[in-house]
Amino acid sequence: MRLPLFAANWKMNKAVSEVRPFMLALLEGLHVLSAKAGTHYEVMIAPPATHLMTAREATQKTPIQIGAQNCGQAPSGAFTGEISPVVLKELGCPWVILGHSERRHLYLEDDNRVLGRLQAALKEGLLPILCVGETLPERKAGQTMAVVERQLGILKNAEVAGKSIVIAYEPVWAIGTGENATPAQAQEVHQFIRSWLKTHFSPAFSEKTRILYGGSVKPENSAFLMSEPDVDGFLVGGASLDAKSFSGIVENGLKSRS
Ligand code: PGA
Repeated sequence: MRLPLFAANWKMNKAVSEVRPFMLALLEGLHVLSAKAGTHYEVMIAPPATHLMTAREATQKTPIQIGAQNCGQAPSGAFTGEISPVVLKELGCPWVILGHSERRHLYLEDDNRVLGRLQAALKEGLLPILCVGETLPERKAGQTMAVVERQLGILKNAEVAGKSIVIAYEPVWAIGTGENATPAQAQEVHQFIRSWLKTHFSPAFSEKTRILYGGSVKPENSAFLMSEPDVDGFLVGGASLDAKSFSGIVENGLKSRS
């Protein structure tokens, strides 16, 4: 069975001083939940890179894991503004989000650039969450699967077999818009991703790889979305900024599993 994963992407939000109070509030919400549900799941918070040290200190000896929102394509060197995957490891930050649509569209990271980052992350033993997803014009033009397939294609050039990776399907039109994909729309693409992994890697790899949904996830829709067989958790932006909303997403998401 795949362990549900609830990942938060804070993007460029919150002050460093807000990290500790948030983690305390989230821990409280999750404690109440574990006592109730007794279910196993993982929680990861990706704050801005500037907040990672504080986040690590605030979550030590807790089940909350931390992640970065991107990482550089080399361990070190002349890469102004980039974040070394080696240093992420040193900081005790095991997760890294790669190929987020904001990186692809605002900072023009193409598949090749994302591949370089993915290879560097895997080399350091980080756990990548590779984001894929189509824009609204691409969906309207019937290109959803072709776009997702192209973005997944970089996996063929990365040494992922035998490693732990996570895929996040995030339709660009659903990110930050309040308009989530329907459970059926999400399932259709998740199923496509899973069968692509099976064809290009192996049935075992496809079965164990978690596929998250992202795009306007909130406590009100997490149960419906997670009732789909290939939705293994979420990558949450806006609603992850509030500890109560985020633990509500976890709680309702897990309900559909019990
Ligand atoms: P959202 O963002 O939850 O605010 O739609 C999701 C994401 O960008 O990962």
